[in-house]
Amino acid sequence: MISIRGIRKSFRAQQGKVDALRDIDLEVAEGEFCVLLGPSGCGKTTTLRCVAGLERPDGGEIEIAGRLVSSPARKVHIPTERRDLGMVFQSYAIWPHMNVFQNVAFPLTQGQKRFGRAAVAEKVAAALKRVQLDGLEDRPATDLSGGQQQRVAMARAMVTEPKILLMDEPLSNLDARLREQMRVELKKITRSIGVTALYVTHDQAEALSLGDRVCVMNEGEILQIGPPHEVYARPKSLFVAKFVGEMNLIKATVADQNRVLSPLGTVRCKVPLAFSSGKEVTLAIRPEHLALLRPTEQNENGIKGKIITKNYLGDAALLEVEVNGTALMVKLPGDVDFQVGQQALIVLPPERWQVYA
Ligand SMILES: Nc1ncnc2c1ncn2[C@@H]1O[C@H](COP(=O)(O)OP(=O)(O)OP(=O)(O)O)[C@@H](O)[C@H]1O
Ligand SMILES: [Mg+2]
Repeated sequence: MISIRGIRKSFRAQQGKVDALRDIDLEVAEGEFCVLLGPSGCGKTTTLRCVAGLERPDGGEIEIAGRLVSSPARKVHIPTERRDLGMVFQSYAIWPHMNVFQNVAFPLTQGQKRFGRAAVAEKVAAALKRVQLDGLEDRPATDLSGGQQQRVAMARAMVTEPKILLMDEPLSNLDARLREQMRVELKKITRSIGVTALYVTHDQAEALSLGDRVCVMNEGEILQIGPPHEVYARPKSLFVAKFVGEMNLIKATVADQNRVLSPLGTVRCKVPLAFSSGKEVTLAIRPEHLALLRPTEQNENGIKGKIITKNYLGDAALLEVEVNGTALMVKLPGDVDFQVGQQALIVLPPERWQVYA
């Protein structure tokens, strides 16, 4: 549905040239919810703006629904309003001097395709129902909560029934609770109308929960694309490992294909074949993949440690355990008996370690 091939974009800034996009390739399938995830300045918004036609790439091509919309080499640049897109941006950008109805009706009365009064009323009503704001048509935009304003922006983006929805951090202005509710709703809404979504966030939890696929970016490049569980379980690089979810990271030296030497002692793990003995590596393991046993218990992958802090999370607990001077975060589900100051045997499952150069 959206095909991005070799997109490049540089900006001239005061400090010199900024390569915002170096060589972006991305295929988003029809009906897919694809999330661009990455730190500030990595090029997420620029990618979205190129797809929207708000930015002209320096090179590469973009196709939308089989139609070439952008290609500097072939001198093609289809303007935004002819790309059949809905857009939602970080700032709600709803018009404060208009009421809810007028805000949502705007694209129907000002855009390329204009509709008669009855059709506008019908389409606006349907869009507002979709975001559960029916009944608020006459409310001035300024009298809405942040979440409601956000939903007005969504309704307005969807009112023309576009094939594609582009969203740039649309939930970032909401408080944590509302953000989670809106996440669930957003997923439901996009599913139910079958729209293809390209969604930008720097929030990894949001990306994992929303995306059919997550695309991790850094410095104008895509580092990894995959379903959320794959990106989370098998980060291809240290950057992705650090950026997506919590990770314990430990410097180590390869001993052989099954062992590394680290401040924790000798750790059993699967070392990639390309890494030979003596190579400096970084070991990574998720807090929830570590387990704690009583110090008197036996386990071949156990190392003795001491509990330094305990953070109660309600449905789980996060413990900091010191092993030979190195702190490891351990996440345990449910009620946790271990207390600060106690000794414990920390179990390091060999199959869970990721080993990075
Ligand atoms: N109009 C512009 N002029 C100059 N530099 C720009 C312009 N737009 C973006 N950039 C630069 O391009 C790079 C990518 O910016 P972009 O806005 O795409 O990042 P982002 O991933 O959306 O970040 P954020 O999470 O902070 O929104 C940054 O270094 C930014 O400073
Ligand atoms: Mg941005």
